[in-house]
Order: sequence, then C-alpha cells, then structure tokens
Amino acid sequence: MNKCFSVAEARLRARKRLPRMMFDFVDGASGDESLSQLNSSALDAIRLMPRVLRDVADRDLSTEILGEQMGLPFGIAPMGMCALSWPNADQHMARAAASCKMPLCVSTASSATLETIIEAAEGYAWFQLYADQSAEFVDELVQRAKVSGYRVLILTVDVPIPSVRTRDLRNGFTFPLHLGPRQIWDFASHPHWSLASLIHGLGAGMPRPMNYATSSQGTKFVRNASRGRATWEFLQRLRDRWPAKLVVKGVQCPDDAARICALGADAIYVSNHGGRQLNGAPTSIESLAVIRQAVGNATPLIYDGGIRNGEHVIKALASGADFAMVGRSVLYGLGAGGARGLSDILGLISTEASAVMGLAGHRQITDIGADNLASAHHHTDKGKG
Ligand SMILES: Cc1cc2nc3c(=O)[nH]c(=O)nc-3n(C[C@H](O)[C@H](O)[C@H](O)COP(=O)(O)O)c2cc1C
Repeated sequence: MNKCFSVAEARLRARKRLPRMMFDFVDGASGDESLSQLNSSALDAIRLMPRVLRDVADRDLSTEILGEQMGLPFGIAPMGMCALSWPNADQHMARAAASCKMPLCVSTASSATLETIIEAAEGYAWFQLYADQSAEFVDELVQRAKVSGYRVLILTVDVPIPSVRTRDLRNGFTFPLHLGPRQIWDFASHPHWSLASLIHGLGAGMPRPMNYATSSQGTKFVRNASRGRATWEFLQRLRDRWPAKLVVKGVQCPDDAARICALGADAIYVSNHGGRQLNGAPTSIESLAVIRQAVGNATPLIYDGGIRNGEHVIKALASGADFAMVGRSVLYGLGAGGARGLSDILGLISTEASAVMGLAGHRQITDIGADNLASAHHHTDKGKG
C-alpha cells in the first residue's frame, strides 16, 4: 500500500475498500449529518498566531493527563465495533497506543475483550463504559476493568436513546447482520475487505462485541439499545465504587459540566459523539470554550470532534483542552491500509502537531494556550484618531 499523506486521502481509500455498509457506519452521523461536518469546519475556522524569533528547533509532544505521562497530546477515542473497518483493529490500535505512549479508549462494544486490549496496549488503555440495558452487566464490566488494571474509566452519557442514522437505515445495517441480496452484493463487490475478514475468522465479516460475548451474565449486544441507565444517581454510585480516575464523556452544557465536577469526576470529556447523537447540538469546539469558563482551570478537559490533522489538535489545546482524542481519522487509516494505514495517520497527526506547535512559538505542549489564538491579538484601538 502507498503511504497516506492526509486523513482525507485515507478516507477515500477506505471508502473504496470497505463494503458500503461498513464505511457508512464509520463515516455516517445522525440527522442530516451537518454537525459531523461542522465539527471539523469550526476547527478549520480557528486561526493561530504565528510567533517569530524563537528557538523552536527541539520540540516535545509529551504531556501529562490524569496523572499519567503520555508521549503525545492526543489518544484514540472510544469506538465500538472497530473491526468493521479492518480485522483485528483493536489489536492494531492497542499496539500503536503502546508504541506512541498514548491512551486507547476501549469501548464497551470493542471487538476484542477489554482484558486483551490493555495487555496489548501495555497499560496505555482507558475503559469506556456504557450504562447498558443490564445493571448486572455494567457492574461486571466495572469489576473487570478494575481487575485487569484500568486506571481510567470513562462514562459516556450522551446516548440516553439511540439517534436516527439515515445511512445505516438505508444500508439495512443491523446487528446481528441480516444478509440479504443487497448486503451480499456489498460484500462481493469489496473482496479485499471481505476476504481479509473471512481469513481472520469473522463469520460473514461481522466481528463480535467481545465484552458481551465473554460476559458471565449472558448479556446480548443490542446495537440500538438505550444507554439510559446513566442518570445522576448512577454517576454518584459509580463515583463511590470506582476509586481511580473517572471521566464523563459527551458533555456539552456548562451547567451539566459544573454538576459533574461537583460530584467528583476527575475530568470532563467534551464531545458531541462526532455528530452521531444530537445533530442540532453545538460544535464540540464551541462547547469546549463555555465549559472551560464554567469549570475553571483546575478541571482537566478532554476534547474530541472533527480532528482530521495535527493542526486541529493544537487548536483544541489552544481553545482550552488539556488533551484531545481522535475518532474517525484512525478508522479511516485502518480501513485504508490496516496497521500500516493506522501508523501513517498517527504519524501524520503527530508530525503536523509538532510543526504547528513550533510555528506557534512553542516547544512544549503545556505552553500552548489561549494566547496562541489569533483572536487573542486582535487589538482594537478605539481611542485612536
Ligand atoms: C464508528 C464509531 C463508533 C463509536 N463508538 C463509540 C462508543 O462505543 N463509545 C463512545 O463513547 N463513543 C463512540 N463513538 C464516538 C467517538 O468516541 C468520538 O466521540 C467521535 O468519533 C469523535 O469525532 P470524530 O470521529 O469526528 O473524531 C464512536 C464513533 C464512531 C465513528
């Protein structure tokens, strides 16, 4: 495979290689999908101020988040059923997390078990919890995360009900997969993906959500299930029973953020689920600014939504985030070229983040802040003349 030089290029290759149904699951969003696009265009619209006459030859992308030292200022956002983009996606991401020293957020609906992933990631893994349909299953997941050594638990709260995703409806994307003529044609016309999936033992190309498959509760994965058990009371109970770091993901309202902090969460993860839930919501980057104002500087903020290059990472940090997570860009890389495509994309984002940090005048991630935004330097001299 030729090297990928941008996320846009990886996305196009993934679109060719993946069955339509799988590509649309990754690429798609809710409603008219405008928010998913706006997340990236709002990042594009931010301007950074170039700074000059500084020695920025030696730069360091490492940073600390939630008491852990990371090699990069970004990690991989939690994504369920990643093996739809390429066989063994979770293992590839875990190895990449270990080699880059960055956190891989492991979804409740991951395609490998949470135990195997943290082992392959050499500890660079955080567990993302959905308050799923079964309370016993949720308790078991929390216990499994604790026993297998996870130090960070992310509770995702923006899926109280499933959203309407038109592409999935049109493609007849269900779980378990219904194999009608349309789906069979889709697989047959994308032989590269279909053969690779078959070779890796995925019956009909459908990976299994392994945390469910290995549950002693026998809980079945229901793709469109409500994750509505996540209430304020649930969060309070979770805080009481999870002594390590607790992050709440999918927060956009400043009042919610302040209340979550008051309940003792260790960080807020500002996200609109990549535009896959409430399409009418604000862009993630707009929410980041208001949440930073609401919670002050002491609470770590993690950001995701629309990151497609390293510049976007630096813009999120300059806009108030302590750390960023990358979602679809990673799956486009995997879909374009498996482990090699993933490594291209992570390399691209890192190299670019380092260059942009230097051009903005810094050598260290912790020096990036609001002062890097061009808008912070727009002096108006009204008294003049
Ligand atoms: C295919 C896919 C599956 C996802 N699954 C989950 C999930 O299981 N849990 C979760 O908290 N968020 C999930 N998300 C949302 C991501 O964590 C993240 O918020 C979003 O992808 C960020 O936007 P971006 O893709 O534009 O970077 C998923 C996103 C995608 C694209």
